[in-house]
Amino acid sequence: MANLVITIDGPAASGKSTVARLLAERLDASFLDTGAMYRAVTLAAMRAGAHMSDEDELLGVIESSEFEFSAEAGKTTVCVNGVEVTEQIRGPEVTANARYAAAAPRVREKLVEMQRQFAAGEERIVTEGRDQGTVAFADADIKFYLTADPRERARRRQAELRAAGEERNLEQIQTAIEDRDNSDQSRTTGPLRPADDAIVVDTTELGIEEVVEKLLACVDEKCSGKG
Ligand code: C5P
Repeated sequence: MANLVITIDGPAASGKSTVARLLAERLDASFLDTGAMYRAVTLAAMRAGAHMSDEDELLGVIESSEFEFSAEAGKTTVCVNGVEVTEQIRGPEVTANARYAAAAPRVREKLVEMQRQFAAGEERIVTEGRDQGTVAFADADIKFYLTADPRERARRRQAELRAAGEERNLEQIQTAIEDRDNSDQSRTTGPLRPADDAIVVDTTELGIEEVVEKLLACVDEKCSGKG
């Protein structure tokens, strides 16, 4: 197990990925984007023509596919069966369909196992997702839960899409985000919720750099206590 495990959980578009990546950079730690894993499995299942609500078929796709995740140059590069799919896993159809893999207990079990294996080989790790502090790394050194007002999260997502040349309606983005929140919070296995010992940070009024500084201050405080 890594010497330092920091988990960041939270709802869709709460800024987790960006913050986790920057925090990892500042701490010289590895970064794990577990959402990319659910997305990659979803894309592989869609391409294989699997029935998304059939857990056995999803597991079959995991068994027969080769997944590679690497965090370099500030982004998570994802390959399925040797082909890079970093952009494809961010598409709206994959985003909407990821709920099936996320709700399948044995798929979650498998992905959590892969997450722990990854962490075991790292000195320090910042990992982000929905269940990192509650399930995957319940013994993590420091747990954060990032949240923000749904309207603000929708605005951020809209700005991101705009920067990528895509114009989308704010209401529709917010509805899709709230839909994903509901489905993440209501599943039985690994539901989205703050761990009992998580530090909850509301980022509605904060910029990315402010959030990173806040988290770093918490890490410093905890680590100085650890010696
Ligand atoms: O974080 P991101 O939006 O990339 O995650 C994609 C989907 O994967 C989420 O909507 C969520 O349902 C699922 N997920 C999960 N557990 C994680 C990470 C992501 O269920 N640890």
